[in-house]
Amino acid sequence: MGDTISPTAAGYIYGRSLPQRFYCNDTIFNEDVNFLSQTQWLLVDHSARIPQAGDYFLFKCGKESLIIVRDRSDEIHAFYNVCRHRGSLICLEPTGHVKALTCPYHAWTYDLSGRLIGASSMPSEFDKTAHALKRAHLRVESGLIFVNMADGEPPSFERFIERHRPFLAPHGFDTAKIAVQMVYPTEANWKLVVENFLECYHCKPAHATYCAVHSADKLLSLGAGPGSASGDLATKFDAELAEWEQATRTAGQLVGMFGDDVDAAYFQGSSRTPIQKGFLTESVDGKPVAPLMGSYVAYDGGQTACSFNPISYVMASNDHAVLFLFAPRGPLRTDVITTWLVREDAVAGRDYDSAHLTKVWDVTLKEDKTITENNQRGVLSRHYEPGLHSLHEKRISDFVAWYMLHRRPTPTDMVDEDRIRPAS
Ligand code: FES
Ligand SMILES: [Fe+2]
Repeated sequence: MGDTISPTAAGYIYGRSLPQRFYCNDTIFNEDVNFLSQTQWLLVDHSARIPQAGDYFLFKCGKESLIIVRDRSDEIHAFYNVCRHRGSLICLEPTGHVKALTCPYHAWTYDLSGRLIGASSMPSEFDKTAHALKRAHLRVESGLIFVNMADGEPPSFERFIERHRPFLAPHGFDTAKIAVQMVYPTEANWKLVVENFLECYHCKPAHATYCAVHSADKLLSLGAGPGSASGDLATKFDAELAEWEQATRTAGQLVGMFGDDVDAAYFQGSSRTPIQKGFLTESVDGKPVAPLMGSYVAYDGGQTACSFNPISYVMASNDHAVLFLFAPRGPLRTDVITTWLVREDAVAGRDYDSAHLTKVWDVTLKEDKTITENNQRGVLSRHYEPGLHSLHEKRISDFVAWYMLHRRPTPTDMVDEDRIRPAS
């Protein structure tokens, strides 16, 4: 059993946090970005962010910057923000509206589909058609934009998304509107941000607001979705969940959940669970914060949580939804990009109040930023050593094992398979 073996300074053992270098080393960080961006589909935003032809935003991940732009045929593209002349960044502002993409250095100009349409004083044999912008893979599902940066064929998007479709369907994301977007820059490695999101062990000491909104037993059993807890904690919420599922199923609404284990290529999960008795939506007082979305005609008090991969999530109540992306920006820097969605026709000030809408997660994410940055500072000490996970932290144990099993290149000290898998 993994947790009976003492961790060494170098090695990783299932059920413990990682050795220090995985939380701060430059080379490992660069490998991590390649691993995530090439093997996963990353949720970068909602298509309502760029409603008109020529609207764009930048998505930055590690050293890469992508221009996500809508063309005149309403198609959305992801271009590498690298000029085909001598490599300058083309778009400098994080978001904007352009007629064409013009490099600020020598004014090479690309149309919104990435074709080079202007390059002055080039030799007569120069072939513009061979100098289109390079592109990343992009898919739009229910209005959500996903990108993948594999050099060749991307991993199957169908396999990536198919199990989430029933969970996304009732919420009407394809016709949603972005009410608020906030970025919480966090001075911590992306894995510490993910680990913090995958356990609710810290909820009681750190999140008074969040704990007042959600059922206490749910936070113990399912605080980080399916597979959150082990031992007795795992079943604490069973009776309350069964009662809600029966009522919700009878009302014709979706219930259910799935969660992947460490061998899955995508390490995904989706679930529908009740927020707390008497709470219609995930707001500070449980009262509605916006008009019902999608096919909902009444509140069922449930929350849909979709985990697409360890850095991309959606949490949806009946009347709003929140997208989360933990964008790795540097070995000690992660941007927590958070987007609140409401129904397309909802009007700020009339149908929703932005402060009420965002309160639960805004407070919680600020608290998370503080505790995660403190975690990172401690991990940088030469006295840090990998610590044993609690019964509340099973999802972290599995995430870390998944990461160690799937990342490439495989760390050289990962020699004993028995130590990096859960005990069977
Ligand atoms: S580097 Fe872009 S035009 Fe020269
Ligand atoms: Fe938290």
